Amino acid sequence: MSSMEQKDKKILCVGLVCLDIISVVDKYPEEDTDSRCVSQRWQRGGNASNSCTVLSLLGSPCAFMGSLCAGPVASFIVDDFSQHAIDISAVAWQVKGQTPSACCVVCPSSGSRTIVLSDTNVPDVTAEDFSKVDLRHFKWIHWEGRNADEQLKMIQRVARYNSTLPQQQQRITISVEIEKPREPLYQLFAHGDVVFVSKDVARHFGFQTPLSALEGLRCRVKAGAVLICAWAEKGADALAPDGSLVHSEAFPPERLVDTLGAGDTFNAAVIHKLSNGARLEDALTFGCAVAGSKCGFHGYDGVADMATGKDWKRVGSAEDI
Ligand code: ADP
Ligand code: FRU
Repeated sequence: MSSMEQKDKKILCVGLVCLDIISVVDKYPEEDTDSRCVSQRWQRGGNASNSCTVLSLLGSPCAFMGSLCAGPVASFIVDDFSQHAIDISAVAWQVKGQTPSACCVVCPSSGSRTIVLSDTNVPDVTAEDFSKVDLRHFKWIHWEGRNADEQLKMIQRVARYNSTLPQQQQRITISVEIEKPREPLYQLFAHGDVVFVSKDVARHFGFQTPLSALEGLRCRVKAGAVLICAWAEKGADALAPDGSLVHSEAFPPERLVDTLGAGDTFNAAVIHKLSNGARLEDALTFGCAVAGSKCGFHGYDGVADMATGKDWKRVGSAEDI
């Protein structure tokens, strides 16, 4: 392959894709009752897959790597990836198991999203699958923390690749998301250039604010890394490479409609900005603005307006940040 310019390279997201069967309800149902929902739809889901959707809508060329099993659910998912111009050539097609799916209840009156996921009968992508990925196509690789032992090997491959490059600017940036409070995922803290830690994990460690989470978890990331903690209506905080702290307020929509995937949207918007050379504070503000706006409509497609600044309320135009 002739040498590719960094700006033409893609962002790869490694993690889950699933089918989300989403029921929108006006009131969260009582257990063991039989009720009607307001509407129901199928949507491609999974953190890494949702982040790809948002990256693509914002104008960042991207690719997804995760497991799929051939069948009608996978066909729906593949069509949707293609409609969003997301490269799926790195997908690991599994011969055993079922494509993951989730029942999601979205309740606009409370802003809640309740998810019941089935993803345990299909293998995750392995370091061996990842060894076939041509790293020269990517400027950034994001891992949604799942099978951390394997993911660590994938990250080590990228670190080895980075160390062979003549110029710092050609390096692949490594980001990781630690969203679930599961012990094996915590080894990923030390390996990201950019680490996203969720409020669930922060709370699990006993922190009640994003700031205290950053103070308490900064010892786990490597020197010079960025640590980011998003916290719903509190916005998000980040630890910069020089050790300083950055905060962005949230951008609540006029009316809460759909908070499913707000975190995935935030991660994608931050990665979009950072990978285009933005300052951390600007990336954080953009992340909160895009994620807040997303909470005001169903699904993700409305995010495209944020790329152009058309739906920009409190911060002027997208060009400002
Ligand atoms: P998730 O629970 O989906 O992982 P979070 O609750 O951490 O996501 O939210 C991610 C980002 O989405 C927040 O930093 C914030 O910018 C935005 N967000 C989420 N919920 C709201 C809300 N109710 N109002 C405004 N912004 C929100
Ligand atoms: C949203 C989401 C959904 C999926 C679930 C998996 O963040 O990725 O699309 O059903 O979480 O945990």
